[in-house]
Amino acid sequence: MSELNVGVIGCGNISTTYFELASLFKGYQFKACADLNHANAEASAATYGLTAMSVDDLLASQDIDVIVNLTIPDSHNEISTRILEAGKHVYSEKPLALNTDEARALAALAQQKGLSVGCAPDTFFGGTHQLARKLVDDGAIGTITSGTCHVMSHGMEDWHPNPDFFFQPGAGPVLDLGPYYIAALVNLIGPVKRVGALTSMAEKERMILNGDRHGEMVPVDTPTTIHALLEFHTGATVTLSASWDVWSHEHNNIELYGTEGTLYVPDPNFFAGDLRIARKNSDTESVAPIDHPFDVINEAKDDEKRANYRGAGLADMAMAIHDKRDFRCSIDRAAHALDVMMSILESGETGQFVTINTACTRPDALGADAAMSLLRDKPVSVV
Ligand SMILES: NC(=O)c1ccc[n+]([C@@H]2O[C@H](COP(=O)([O-])OP(=O)(O)OC[C@H]3O[C@@H](n4cnc5c(N)ncnc54)[C@H](O)[C@@H]3O)[C@@H](O)[C@H]2O)c1
Repeated sequence: MSELNVGVIGCGNISTTYFELASLFKGYQFKACADLNHANAEASAATYGLTAMSVDDLLASQDIDVIVNLTIPDSHNEISTRILEAGKHVYSEKPLALNTDEARALAALAQQKGLSVGCAPDTFFGGTHQLARKLVDDGAIGTITSGTCHVMSHGMEDWHPNPDFFFQPGAGPVLDLGPYYIAALVNLIGPVKRVGALTSMAEKERMILNGDRHGEMVPVDTPTTIHALLEFHTGATVTLSASWDVWSHEHNNIELYGTEGTLYVPDPNFFAGDLRIARKNSDTESVAPIDHPFDVINEAKDDEKRANYRGAGLADMAMAIHDKRDFRCSIDRAAHALDVMMSILESGETGQFVTINTACTRPDALGADAAMSLLRDKPVSVV
């Protein structure tokens, strides 16, 4: 198949991951990049052999089929809308937009133009998460009746040089990290029916602890602690605790309780991890990994060894455009995740349960062969 030519708008922190991993995947090639701050685009272009353009020129370019939107959350809707209006497919970093009306408008515009919109995260493509999916589908823990998710730390100001956006509407722990958890839960359980939540904020300002702006205070305008309850259409009920106000805790990332056992799913922010199971009346044991390409450790940075395949969702979308099929990081799933997250925040404000009005299906499972079909070569472990 002919590969899609891809441009990037937003050459910041996460763009390097996309650029560095792009050569792993079939279906697309990065050609050009743009940024509000043109120096960022020029630096990326020089490092990765791309053409640096203004945002307007990239949107107008006849050679570009897809634009990846790696701007900050506040700009996602505006930039994605402009990309669609320019007649190009969009793949956006999460969250898709800042409210469900924007998500609906994007979906309507994409349909009107006959274009595709995809949205991160794609970490649930990881071998560990797909093994969890297989165990759930095979009935290893029976019917999932409930569960817990905990994503809690002391925030982003200690590592990100410009952490302002993390503490503004559109981010906060539920919109920044929630997408990984909602995508993982939709993959494992399916769509959500209603939510309730209590939300709070421990500090009204946070101090940047990294980079040139070290010591500068940034305002906090969105909740930084969220305790939510999610009821799924299957009847399962899951607690989601997301916070940047916690120094330490001992909860697992995801625990799913079924009629036949418990599944311990590792951090869905990453592709691989230790998957554990406790079958009825048995001790907890690690599940032997399957031979899945997205479990292979391909990154060793600062002593951290990871399987990192960000961009797999874009490859799946590029190939789906060619094959005219559904793709896993689809706009309906991203819009549903956004609806769940915004409804959690709404419930935190009103104290009322909120019914989720968006619908989606579980994405297709991604077995080892399907994952290999997105890759140019079998990944090689770096450890
Ligand atoms: N940094 C990470 O580790 C990480 C991981 C996963 C997802 N994400 C997501 O990726 C997105 C970007 O995060 P980041 O950490 O790279 O942010 P960043 O602030 O480092 O980079 C954003 C870039 O976008 C540019 N930009 C902002 N608004 C623009 C606009 N309207 N037009 C053109 N350029 C614009 C900025 O100049 C900047 O270069 C966010 O949605 C974030 O949630 C980030």
